[in-house]
Amino acid sequence: MFLSGRFAVKWITLLIACLISVGSCYDVDVQQFKDSGFQIGPKFVGVTIDSGIFGHFSELQLQNPKVLTLAKGLTPNRVRVGGTDCDFVIFNDTVTSGLNKQGDHTNTSMTVADWDELNNFVRSVGWDLIFDFNEFLRKGDNWDPTNAIEILKYSQQKGYKLWGYELGNELDVFPENNLSVPQIAADFISFRQLLESMAGISPFTLLGPDAGSVGNRSYVYMTAFFKAGGANAIDVSTWHHYYMNSLKATVEKFHDVKTLESLRPELNKVMEICREYAPGKEVWLGETSSSYGGGAHDISDRYVASFLWLDKLGLASSLGIQGILRQTFYGGNYALMGSTFDPNPVS
Ligand SMILES: *[C@@H]1O[C@H](CO)[C@@H](O)[C@H](O)[C@H]1NC(C)=O
Ligand SMILES: *[C@@H]1O[C@H](CO)[C@@H](O)[C@H](O)[C@H]1NC(C)=O
Ligand SMILES: *[C@@H]1O[C@H](CO)[C@@H](O)[C@H](O)[C@H]1NC(C)=O
Ligand SMILES: *[C@@H]1O[C@H](CO)[C@@H](O)[C@H](O)[C@H]1NC(C)=O
Repeated sequence: MFLSGRFAVKWITLLIACLISVGSCYDVDVQQFKDSGFQIGPKFVGVTIDSGIFGHFSELQLQNPKVLTLAKGLTPNRVRVGGTDCDFVIFNDTVTSGLNKQGDHTNTSMTVADWDELNNFVRSVGWDLIFDFNEFLRKGDNWDPTNAIEILKYSQQKGYKLWGYELGNELDVFPENNLSVPQIAADFISFRQLLESMAGISPFTLLGPDAGSVGNRSYVYMTAFFKAGGANAIDVSTWHHYYMNSLKATVEKFHDVKTLESLRPELNKVMEICREYAPGKEVWLGETSSSYGGGAHDISDRYVASFLWLDKLGLASSLGIQGILRQTFYGGNYALMGSTFDPNPVS
């Protein structure tokens, strides 16, 4: 296990707690660690909020003193608001409620009040906001930036400053996605041009392509995206990682060295692709947690999930990853806090 920099103290405490909670006997061999040659910044670890929150945004009480206190404890921090539902979120400055969501993957509104609350929250806790824009808004073959421009203009008017921008999510996975990889790369290029053309937005960070499939498919997708011009559009390359499907998660798997180590060859492959086709750009785990599909009930929210998390932080930093966005700050079994805003793990 590798531990880096200022995380060591905080996470070693958690490690001891999780060793106790598993109730087994382990020999922990903390080796003198070799310099990996990589350095991480103070915002190495950030969090995510899933775009699925729009439509019931008030559930996440961003003005709740408990939430504010916990959030301030994570500063300096970044939050990425994104995920599959980002491609169904439409900013609507005439509706006052986003409650028109019929189920998964149906369009929903992000209201002015939602956007105000999110921006006021990040400002008051001192976080950087990364927002994932809707790639499924189309005009002919191309991305239709009309709704994004409305968000950007409104934000300018209110003095909201985003740190990072994304377009679409896991388009290598999403079954209804009919967009070709060169088209996606072209959309990123036009998004970059749009951001550069608008006053008050630069400097900004464009992250992508948020590849999310397991194994080869995401490598093939990232390679094709970079080669089609995506590499020039982005500032940070993003890849998503989960160890397993939540439905197949077990406590045993969550502390099995084989599970922990399964990440290493994948990260090596991602780094190899990014070094070759998007040289000089940072590589991030742009959305990551223990198990996909919302996290595993009574596993992802328990101390035992700390093994995967701690090892991921150390392993990723030692292999050259520059940022990790933890799915999630709120929402799902893998969240950092539960539905009553008490921090996880609770046991
Ligand atoms: C906003 O919602 C109203 C009422 O549902 C609808 O008529 C309008 O087309 C929506 N605007 C956008 C940009 O989707
Ligand atoms: C969502 O709204 C866009 C823009 O109005 C439309 O093109 C698209 O078909 C809608 N998607 C769904 C799933 O309803
Ligand atoms: C993709 O194509 C299918 C079938 O042609 C269509 O039903 C679906 O709405 C399309 N999806 C998107 C995101 O355009
Ligand atoms: C895809 O996976 C196979 C089997 O796991 C492996 O042999 C091959 O090298 C992989 N290809 C790429 C492009 O990663």
